Amino acid sequence: MAAIEQLFALAKQARENAYAPYSRFPVGASLRTETGALFSGCNVENAAYPLGVCAETSAISAMVAAGESRIAEILVLGPGPERIAPCGACRQRIAEFMCDGGVVHLAGPAGDVLSLPLADLLPHAFGPASLTRD
Ligand code: THU
Repeated sequence: MAAIEQLFALAKQARENAYAPYSRFPVGASLRTETGALFSGCNVENAAYPLGVCAETSAISAMVAAGESRIAEILVLGPGPERIAPCGACRQRIAEFMCDGGVVHLAGPAGDVLSLPLADLLPHAFGPASLTRD
């Protein structure tokens, strides 16, 4: 299976398990690390609304828990006919772990992706390299 199709299939599968009873907007995300490992996640909402977490954040947590930390590409799949892009907070979380030249895939329902460099979604980012004091 082609790399992008594999990511799409994983995100779609994770979206099946989304816990989104409040928004009724299930989202799946998947990522490939620079070592080739694959992880996925879904959004997990909460009756205390602000505690909900996005699919991208779940996928990143799974990656970190497995001891990986370098994202080469990440894909996000919403429930509708339109592609969705990661929210601002998730863009920042992705930036924390993205490899140089890493790509964000915005997937349509049929697996048709719009692939963007993270810098297009989060220009002039504040990141780990910004934390130098001298
Ligand atoms: N959501 C994601 O999981 N990822 C995104 O990129 C955008 C939004 C979730 C958060 C919430 O559970 C639901 O979609 C509606 O905003």
